[in-house]
Amino acid sequence: MTSSYEARVGALAQTGRAIDLRSDTVTHPTPAMREAMYHAEVGDDVYGEDPTVNRLEALAAERLGKEAALFVPTGTMGNAIALLTHCRRGDEILIGARAHMYLYEVGGAARLNGSPVRPIPNLADGSLDRAVLARAFLGDDVHEARTGLLCLEDTQNMCGGRVLSPETLRELATPAHARGLPVHLDGARLFNAAVALGLPVRALAAEVESVMCCLSKGLAAPVGSILAGSTAFIDEARRGRKLLGGGMRQAGILAAAGIVALTDMVERLAEDHTHAKQLADGLAEIPSLAIAPETVETNILFFGVRGEDGQPADTTPLVTAAAQAGILLSGGDDGRIRAVTHHGITAADIEAVLVAIRRIQEA
Ligand SMILES: Cc1ncc(COP(=O)(O)O)c(C=O)c1O
Repeated sequence: MTSSYEARVGALAQTGRAIDLRSDTVTHPTPAMREAMYHAEVGDDVYGEDPTVNRLEALAAERLGKEAALFVPTGTMGNAIALLTHCRRGDEILIGARAHMYLYEVGGAARLNGSPVRPIPNLADGSLDRAVLARAFLGDDVHEARTGLLCLEDTQNMCGGRVLSPETLRELATPAHARGLPVHLDGARLFNAAVALGLPVRALAAEVESVMCCLSKGLAAPVGSILAGSTAFIDEARRGRKLLGGGMRQAGILAAAGIVALTDMVERLAEDHTHAKQLADGLAEIPSLAIAPETVETNILFFGVRGEDGQPADTTPLVTAAAQAGILLSGGDDGRIRAVTHHGITAADIEAVLVAIRRIQEA
């Protein structure tokens, strides 16, 4: 008997359409974005003459409650510019041990800033170990590098898309602020955090001096991120962007999609969170998998595989078998599988994924 699931996976294989849960970066621009891109008014943005980029930057600054914003090609570049702008060369940077900026941005702090980086343990909820953080600030002693910046991440990707509330951000920022030091927020998915909390995104951005957020993840723009802060910060960041080769010319073509991302795509993120929860609840019913569905707050979840002895087992066979069934997952080298929901993934897709994974695990 051919089940609807088998028909579906067969169809996926034939059309080449996978259910791609590797990341929310795989989203494609919506028809409204393509339309806006086609019609975008453009100019030379390095001269400040691209009206669509200027409109996006003004809109982003307003949404984030900051004086100014800068359109940058990627989140990685936005974060790197923040480090260059806030810190003197060699200033030490405090950052979560599971932060994207620490793990996955090519050691930019060391390579671009000449800065030592001090990883602070992340707690399971995505926040930082307060006691370690309190002792981490340096600079009073002539032997020490000076601490220049604290970086936070919201949502915290590698902790499972965990949400840091404004209160948590304030608590973590306080020891830095008490020393007159700035705090930068990697808010690649800050809109997910805001939607999960039912707060405007500015309520989160208000706790920090600078914030980066991505338009190209759950918000589905094809390219681009925003760096926001004070006018003086963004004036200087504009130089940093040029230094790193991020001064684009008729970038309004891209910014047009970013405007649609900010205006039409934010509230929709709640659907991704519902789908991630649906997936987590379903995976929790499969005995050979390890997952804590109650920790799933946004669109990212991690789960493990248990062997017959109940101990963590290799995730590769499951990731490989799922890929053969047209379901793409990220298999990390830390024994966890990551799944990310996003625009284009439906409740029916999640059902198909659950049926497939159950079959693979029961085979
Ligand atoms: C938390 C976080 N910060 C920053 C980035 C970097 O963004 P980009 O891929 O646009 O460089 C990512 C990318 O996935 C991310 O997850």
